[in-house]
Amino acid sequence: MAYYSDICVGAIACRLEKKEGGGQVRVYIMTLGVLAPYRGLGIGTKLLNHALDLCSKQNISEVYLHVQTNNEDAINFYKKFGFEITETIQNYYTNITPPDCYVLTRNNIIASYLRGSDQRLLHCFMGFAMDVLH
Ligand SMILES: CC(C)(COP(=O)(O)OP(=O)(O)OC[C@H]1O[C@@H](n2cnc3c(N)ncnc32)[C@H](O)[C@@H]1OP(=O)(O)O)[C@@H](O)C(=O)NCCC(=O)NCCS
Repeated sequence: MAYYSDICVGAIACRLEKKEGGGQVRVYIMTLGVLAPYRGLGIGTKLLNHALDLCSKQNISEVYLHVQTNNEDAINFYKKFGFEITETIQNYYTNITPPDCYVLTRNNIIASYLRGSDQRLLHCFMGFAMDVLH
């Protein structure tokens, strides 16, 4: 979770997944969100970098997520971190329009993703939780 002063303004939740047929693991970003008035301040960057940093430390090179096909803000945001559209899934969502999603995937995590957003987050404190799938 990300706090601005004492207000919780954002969160990221991820889980570890075992890849089919092998011992490799990858990370799935279940959700990443920042409250609208606090967007554009670097908080989303801080949250995502923290998750990617943990992946890097655990030698996990693949991270992926689903995003609605019309969510251009989020798609552009993730592309800045090296995510690419690797799949389109029709009718992924059952209760929103359009129901289609892209799968965004990032491989080869390197330390250089860390960017200079720290100055913009003097009052931001983050925590991070990862669920392990068995
Ligand atoms: C996507 C989201 C998490 C980004 O969070 P944020 O705190 O606003 O992002 P940042 O301030 O760290 O911005 C990082 C970069 O993305 C860009 N960016 C962020 N929001 C953007 C927007 N709405 N349009 C275009 N670019 C955007 C910024 O320009 C910034 O680039 P820069 O560092 O070169 O200036 C936030 O917009 C959000 O919560 N959206 C709604 C939920 C959602 O769609 N989540 C993703 C699907 S899981």
